[in-house]
Amino acid sequence: MLLIISFIIPLFIFLFFHTLFHQKLRYCSCEICHAYLTSSWRNDFVNLGDWYAHLLRRSPTSTIKVHVLNSVVTANPSNVEHMLKTRFHNYPKGKQFSVILGDLLGRGIFNSDGDTWRFQRKLASLELGSVSVRVFAHEIVKTEIETRLIPVLNSFSTEPGSVLDLQDVFRRFSFDTISKLSFGFDPNCLRFPFPTSEFAVAFDTASTLSAKRALAPFPLLWKVKRMFKIGSEKELKESINVINRLAGDLIKQRRLTGLTNKNNDLISRFMAVVAEDDDKYLRDIVVSFLLAGRDTVAAGLTGFFWLLTRHPKMENRIREELDRVMGPGFDSFTASCGEMREMHYLHAALYESMRLYPPVQFDSKFALNDDVLADGTRVTGGTRVTYHPYAMGRMSRIWGPDYEEFKPERWLDKEGKFRSENPVKYPIFQAGARVCVGKEMAIMEMKSIAVAMIKKFETRVKGGSTETLRFAPGLTATVNGGLPVLIQERKAEGVFN
Ligand code: HEM
Repeated sequence: MLLIISFIIPLFIFLFFHTLFHQKLRYCSCEICHAYLTSSWRNDFVNLGDWYAHLLRRSPTSTIKVHVLNSVVTANPSNVEHMLKTRFHNYPKGKQFSVILGDLLGRGIFNSDGDTWRFQRKLASLELGSVSVRVFAHEIVKTEIETRLIPVLNSFSTEPGSVLDLQDVFRRFSFDTISKLSFGFDPNCLRFPFPTSEFAVAFDTASTLSAKRALAPFPLLWKVKRMFKIGSEKELKESINVINRLAGDLIKQRRLTGLTNKNNDLISRFMAVVAEDDDKYLRDIVVSFLLAGRDTVAAGLTGFFWLLTRHPKMENRIREELDRVMGPGFDSFTASCGEMREMHYLHAALYESMRLYPPVQFDSKFALNDDVLADGTRVTGGTRVTYHPYAMGRMSRIWGPDYEEFKPERWLDKEGKFRSENPVKYPIFQAGARVCVGKEMAIMEMKSIAVAMIKKFETRVKGGSTETLRFAPGLTATVNGGLPVLIQERKAEGVFN
């Protein structure tokens, strides 16, 4: 009791005022802030992103302010160009971001600026761009498809009426893949009957709880919980401990065998240039890769297959393309990199699905100094500036009046060849100096999975498809309730008829 009176209460009061002072918490009763604070936006919208998209469409500059969060949100490509390219140095991740994600990501690329970021960026671009790592990544994906994905899908397709959660399958696939690429370690998550991987569970918990920190309107609460190691912060700490223990073991193992065995995994490559006594830094580097490459790919594929089941005509066009490039029949289901380069319609369909369902729905930076955005919006130093790819995909100013339609054709030229878009209009992989370094690998992985599944199976969302996807809060888009499907092997036409 004495401890509470003499220590905890004064500490709480100090932290409260400290937060008020430093984070400029403010009350605001404007329409947007009121709806945010009372969650009344939920009366009209399923997802926070849909509400933001509505507000941004209504704004003449495609930019709004959320005063209570000290935040500017924009869907204006000129502003995106301004923050990610023209005035890149004024929009770092910032201290605010690194406090939220520091426990999980440490000094990893996702959580760093300046020289620490530049060093990892240079090495990561070099490694992911090298032919040997690309071939290695393609081999990993091909093996995962042949030895795990197809057997799992086959076994579900032979059990009439059995339901498979495709989102879960894609997450297992991409976790196996990115773990093999990053650590040379196989967590074997996609092996039927879907074992629970301690590593994957710890990783899920840690990223969900870290994201909750980022969304908290009163950060003081999680900071106090962290200080006293209670509640969600205790859980976060425990899951980070599991990640640290497993990563530490893998790094030790690699130190013994890695450099002599010419491994292509990223940790062996980074080990050659990071100081021998800095295993913590190595751990941070690789954990950022796991986060970057896991849920993003799974989220992209979940949105893609949900859209395909609603658009059988587009699915058939993809099948025609696969038959033309790979030959007809259902037996060959993995494509070479050369064959995939010829699949322009599939490429366009993937880009179009990520326009509507971006794996990273919004991304924030923190302004260093006062600035004026390209559309004239004033920004003071310390303001969080968010560009919003989910809302940007829903702007008629960017995509025309048919922006709501799933239309792969908008990505094709007159000859039917894929035509890319300016990344400031389509910042799905971000743009500028920090554009995603795993983009090529992600597209290769998504295309390979799409080819195998579309060529060999018919999928239907169980119970028909709902009108909208409902997302859970998190660092990457996660569909609440997953994507439950019925799946059938294609032996003859119209298996679901
Ligand atoms: C569809 C899949 C993917 C999407 C949509 C995506 C999107 C993004 C976005 C939006 C960022 C910027 C994040 C930020 O700065 O806050 C980013 C950065 C990054 N991505 Fe990806 N990503 C995908 C897959 C991957 C994969 C498979 C890898 C690894 C092999 C990867 C590695 C990275 C890394 C290392 C960064 C940090 C770059 C930097 O800060 O310089 N990504 N990605």
